[in-house]
Amino acid sequence: MNNGLDDVVAAETTLSDVDGAAGRLLIRGRSLDELAGAVRYEDVLELLFSGFFIGLPNADHLALALGEARAQVFSRLPAAAAFLNLPVTEAVRALIAQIADGDDLAAALRLIAAPAVFAPAIIRMKRGDAPVVPDPASTHAADVLRMLHGETVAPDWAAALDAYFVTVSDHGLNASTFAARVVASTHAGLTSAVLAAISALKGPLHGGAPGPVLDMLDEIGRPEAAEAWLEAALDKGDRLMGFGHRVYRVRDPRADALKQAARRLAKSTRSGAGRFALAESIEAAALAILARRKPNRPLKTNVEFYTALLLEALGFPRDSFTSVFAMGRSSGWIAHAKEQALTGRLIRPQSRYVGPLPERAA
Ligand code: ACO
Repeated sequence: MNNGLDDVVAAETTLSDVDGAAGRLLIRGRSLDELAGAVRYEDVLELLFSGFFIGLPNADHLALALGEARAQVFSRLPAAAAFLNLPVTEAVRALIAQIADGDDLAAALRLIAAPAVFAPAIIRMKRGDAPVVPDPASTHAADVLRMLHGETVAPDWAAALDAYFVTVSDHGLNASTFAARVVASTHAGLTSAVLAAISALKGPLHGGAPGPVLDMLDEIGRPEAAEAWLEAALDKGDRLMGFGHRVYRVRDPRADALKQAARRLAKSTRSGAGRFALAESIEAAALAILARRKPNRPLKTNVEFYTALLLEALGFPRDSFTSVFAMGRSSGWIAHAKEQALTGRLIRPQSRYVGPLPERAA
């Protein structure tokens, strides 16, 4: 019995390959190092969706169709009023649950548009600000930031969010993608698959780590305090958020891509350089301590550490980080759901019963 299904191959995919020993991520045959910062999220959508939707347009037309989907999804916002007492990601999930299941490209684009429109609107509504209507002609990343801040942001901000979306767009059979594939294997439809995935993503062992990363930075406060704080946390049995990975044994290539994006952004934001320097010194202290304490288990910086810095610098509140992750990863979830439904089998593993047995009749 393999409790965490470590190393179990449960799907064949043409979508992405996570090579943990080499620290390499391939998306449809192209390495992340080549894609991040070089192509738009809309280009990755075309890559991931190709072969799964009849009449898939090219990336430019896909960008326009996605913009129209944002405008359509915006009309569903009145329902948000009922969910403003929930954390942002749970409110986003509740709104997505109201979208009917479907399997075609229109259904897929609605589900990619949904977190991108709902999260900025909910953040604003919680603060008492009016939601901002999407601009269908904008790129996805620039529009998300415009809807969040109420004005067009600087191009380097939009480029940083675009690089983030590309970086997290797909990542093999991670927990949320597996959840999406399990649901898709029953042919339940794309909304159901995406809802399962968001629910899995939200946990701190998966996509919920960046908020706690910032809490850690705040508690440590200054580089000199890092070592004592980190040692004390590990002595208590806590895990250091933003470190370790089930598959990567060397670098997580996404952490490198996002560190570069966060560094670029830090230069253009007030207080950004100091925050970035603090993060870098805490990262170095954590890596040294983890290497000393767990010599047999390489524990490196994962995607969530610099995600936290990047999304904070872009002005997202902590309880919305998982929704921003979902904006990028929804492309991968949907492609995997389509792949599973088209080529896979109903996923139905076995459990071994270890509970009580009925007493034998005398
Ligand atoms: N801090 C301290 N120790 C750790 C950490 C960590 N972040 N991660 C793993 N370890 C230790 C474990 O305590 C264990 O030690 P032991 O053998 O002495 O008991 C050893 O490393 C192996 O741990 P596993 O539980 O087998 O590792 P697993 O593959 O299940 O964990 C995970 C992967 C969940 C990501 C883990 O590293 C972790 O909890 N990290 C912190 C949370 C985090 O950053 N999550 C985001 C992950 S990225 C993503 O999903 C998008």
